[in-house]
Amino acid sequence: MDPDKESEGESALRGAHGGRGFSHAPVLLKEAIDFLAVKRGGTYIDATLGLGGHSSAIASLLGPEGRLIGFDKDTRALEMAGQRLAAPEGRQQDWPEIVLHHASYAELAERVAPGSADGVLADLGVSSMQFEDAGRGFSFQADGPLDMRMNPHAELSADQVVNQFDESNLADLIYEFGEERRSRRIARAIVRARPIKSTAHLAQVVSAAARPMNQPRGKGIHPATLTFQAIRIYVNRELEDLRALLASAPQVVKPGGRLVIISFHSLEDRMVKDALRDGARDGVWEPLTKKPVIASEDEIAENPRARSAKLRAAVRMELRRRGGKR
Ligand SMILES: C[S@@+](CC[C@H](N)C(=O)[O-])C[C@H]1O[C@@H](n2cnc3c(N)ncnc32)[C@H](O)[C@@H]1O
Repeated sequence: MDPDKESEGESALRGAHGGRGFSHAPVLLKEAIDFLAVKRGGTYIDATLGLGGHSSAIASLLGPEGRLIGFDKDTRALEMAGQRLAAPEGRQQDWPEIVLHHASYAELAERVAPGSADGVLADLGVSSMQFEDAGRGFSFQADGPLDMRMNPHAELSADQVVNQFDESNLADLIYEFGEERRSRRIARAIVRARPIKSTAHLAQVVSAAARPMNQPRGKGIHPATLTFQAIRIYVNRELEDLRALLASAPQVVKPGGRLVIISFHSLEDRMVKDALRDGARDGVWEPLTKKPVIASEDEIAENPRARSAKLRAAVRMELRRRGGKR
């Protein structure tokens, strides 16, 4: 092979990083593509389209017989990913079928035929587009409304949780989904400060209640980090949805197909790890990652979001007959 000529895979990875005006860098892109073992003509599911970074790299490897099925709860993300996944100039004849669903990946089994996928990828959590848009209310670093909904049509928003939930429910969810030890103190401060009008107001109330006496400003994580994480996970039913995805993936992925999941906090990673361990025990998944794959220092330097990413992958095994031959 001509060493100066870039391979299709390399060009896919480069294309996924840029070239159409997006600054978002997909996390662990090369690793995700490698573990998916993307093959021409295959059917792949991107459960979390986001800005279509991983998807565009997958699509460019599939060819005209291939198919990419994408999910996102966020209509804005779907719109942007849809634009990005249109066949590039000169590749119309070589581009896969693209099918996009405005739906939760919890609906995977209802929307995708059993045993039809060669691979499923999920890059969990919020996208940089959602996080950086103050109007979405995900960030404590910018002032915005208390929203935090990935799906803008969902009924529950952060405002209801923060301003209407009773103190003990609030404390429980901050503890459960943020693993925040100071959850009771924080919940009490939130209830006393009501009505809380914005993300900056919430961050200030939580910070005052949560900062440990011995932690000076500017050291360690922001004192509101875990509370914001907890409210976001609760509002978006993130762990319920992940549970449903992990339960339905074995039905949808064909034998020999791959499951690749990138998670960003320990609650998610634990669920993925346990599902793959149980799947190995039951002859459903053969894990490919003994330990989670993490980002290189170079990637973290370029994209700080990669710092907490953990990738786990598995191959779908043939179903063993229960009870053996009759
Ligand atoms: C980290 S981003 C994905 C980024 C994407 N891999 C890329 O390269 O651009 C996660 C995306 O998943 C979506 N999402 C999160 N939970 C979801 C769910 N349960 N169902 C469907 N989409 C979900 C979010 O709205 C967000 O757009």
